[in-house]
Amino acid sequence: MALNDIKKVLISDDVNVKCVEILENNGFNVVKNTSLTVDQLKEEIKNYDCLVVRSATKVTKEILNSAANNLKLVARAGTGVDNIDVASATDLNILVMNAVGSNTISAAELTCAMISSLARNLPLANQSMKDGKWERSKFMGTELYGKTLAVLGLGRIGREVASRMRAFGMRIIGYDPLVKPEDAAQWNIEAMSLEQIWPLADYITIHVPLLPETKNLLNTEVMSKCKKGFRLVNCARGGIVEENDLLQALNSGQCAGAALDVFAEEPTKNLDLVKHNSVICTPHLGASSIEAQNRVALDIAEQIVKFVKHGKLEGG
Ligand code: NAD
Ligand code: MLT
Repeated sequence: MALNDIKKVLISDDVNVKCVEILENNGFNVVKNTSLTVDQLKEEIKNYDCLVVRSATKVTKEILNSAANNLKLVARAGTGVDNIDVASATDLNILVMNAVGSNTISAAELTCAMISSLARNLPLANQSMKDGKWERSKFMGTELYGKTLAVLGLGRIGREVASRMRAFGMRIIGYDPLVKPEDAAQWNIEAMSLEQIWPLADYITIHVPLLPETKNLLNTEVMSKCKKGFRLVNCARGGIVEENDLLQALNSGQCAGAALDVFAEEPTKNLDLVKHNSVICTPHLGASSIEAQNRVALDIAEQIVKFVKHGKLEGG
């Protein structure tokens, strides 16, 4: 691949303007168009060397094939690359890069807010007051102090969540096949197998990527092994929790509450889940902070410049 052939960049999702500025200042020809349909993108992409996306654009085999003669680079302004068919890109010699770490703190902070909101019924109590009510006994909460939080995935976000929730006095247990128990212990996390975790956890928070091994990780069989009344937080990826199984567990009381930032299909059509009284939800806002979006835009633009101008590769 001749790196200096990469000149024309299409940004098809809502990436901070800093990304455009940095690329243009470095001589790239950049077009941002966030309103392309799949068919339009399939045609438009034939005119570009590089595609920059967040999570809304699904970079499928079909899209990649239509750009097989020209596209050299797909850059994800964020962490997860599950919206990009990386295997097909690799087959076509198209490089995929991402901006790992730039939105870690924002995703971790949203997760902690979700855990606290579940414990104290904040969204429902807030709505009740806005409806003109004063329902003190209805919204009796529970303390986080002394409760057990299971962190699934002890990577960047999982560890930041663990350290913040330790400050609430929670016991932190966790599972990650790539983390040694002695490393987890240094972060004040007790490493355990999933089978040990299920019956112990009062709260389960998910921070694993969406992979074939993690798809539907939280399903009826697993949730039936959990403590009755456990609470679940998913600020990682839709598809890791089997949504209909979760709905059943919420209806039976096996799961006392769920906080969801991500959904199997986005925007979700699963309104039974969204409208459930024990569910708190946000529309994939984990990385939606001013700071994270600035960092992500800067990070991905600088990675593209370093790669094209100096042949240097970063990211994860
Ligand atoms: P990371 O790569 O630093 O950590 C992921 C961890 O999961 C790794 O340590 C890995 O070993 C572990 N893991 C992999 N398979 C596992 C399994 N089967 N069981 C348990 N652990 C497993 O990634 P990160 O930066 O912490 O991000 C985690 C995920 O969060 C991303 O993949 C992304 O999908 C999601 N995310 C969501 C938002 C949002 O807006 N809601 C923002 C950022 C990231
Ligand atoms: C990510 O993987 O970084 C998140 O999903 C955030 C985003 O899409 O912006």
